[in-house]
Amino acid sequence: MVRRGSFNTQMLDASGIRYYPHLGSTNTEARRLAEAGAPGGTVVLADAQSAGRGRRGRSWHSPPGKGIYFSILLRPPEADPAAAAPLTLAAAASAARKLRECTGVQVSVKWPNDLLIGGKKMGGILTEGRTGGQALLYIVLGIGLNINHRAEDFPAELRGSATSLYLESGIAFERTALFLDLLKDLRRSLELFFKEGFAPFQPLWKEFSATLGSEVKLAGAGQGEIVEGKAVDLDAEGALLIEDNRGRRRRILCGEIVY
Ligand code: BTN
Repeated sequence: MVRRGSFNTQMLDASGIRYYPHLGSTNTEARRLAEAGAPGGTVVLADAQSAGRGRRGRSWHSPPGKGIYFSILLRPPEADPAAAAPLTLAAAASAARKLRECTGVQVSVKWPNDLLIGGKKMGGILTEGRTGGQALLYIVLGIGLNINHRAEDFPAELRGSATSLYLESGIAFERTALFLDLLKDLRRSLELFFKEGFAPFQPLWKEFSATLGSEVKLAGAGQGEIVEGKAVDLDAEGALLIEDNRGRRRRILCGEIVY
């Protein structure tokens, strides 16, 4: 019997998804599977995570029955580690497009890895890889999405900054169908990314951007420096172009917008 609100395990099995009612972290499990020789394309999905990980050592709150928490193991042929850097941006833009299409909610992207609705965070992406010499051995792309969370499902400290599809639309979404639709679309996007790079995703990212045109403050761009200015563009490699008040432009490849 499929309980209302829970994942449909028959459909997940039929699609070859490794589903776990509970895991520490889907990224950690996907990395373990990668080290054990699992093939590229392996997908790990959990209903709940007790040690969900975010960027910069943060945790990802993952209560049961509410979200979509999954990781895809990728073994891209001939990809060099630098080419994989804008993968997160490509995945974020594709996910925003598909979420808008499937739910009608105006999901946007914040550089580099956040999915927002109305300025609040509804999703995030954590990409981790392992290299051997110059080669990229594998990448794990982990995505966390707040779907049916009520306000009380978030810890108090996140309530001001986090949101979910349910909170923004009043609709409780059927997670299995939404996940399988997203995954199908993401797989197509990843194939395109490894064939043609970030260029085909640049216009999409710009269209859905909540970052371009805003004044930003960036941390982690290098040497403890804080970069401030207006986010004016995103180039074909996924770098953010920041213009300061004297019109000087900086090209930022990594970091985090702190406001
Ligand atoms: C972030 O915004 O900091 C990234 C959050 C990524 C969370 C997802 S949930 C599924 C996968 N498993 C993890 O442990 N983390 C990612």
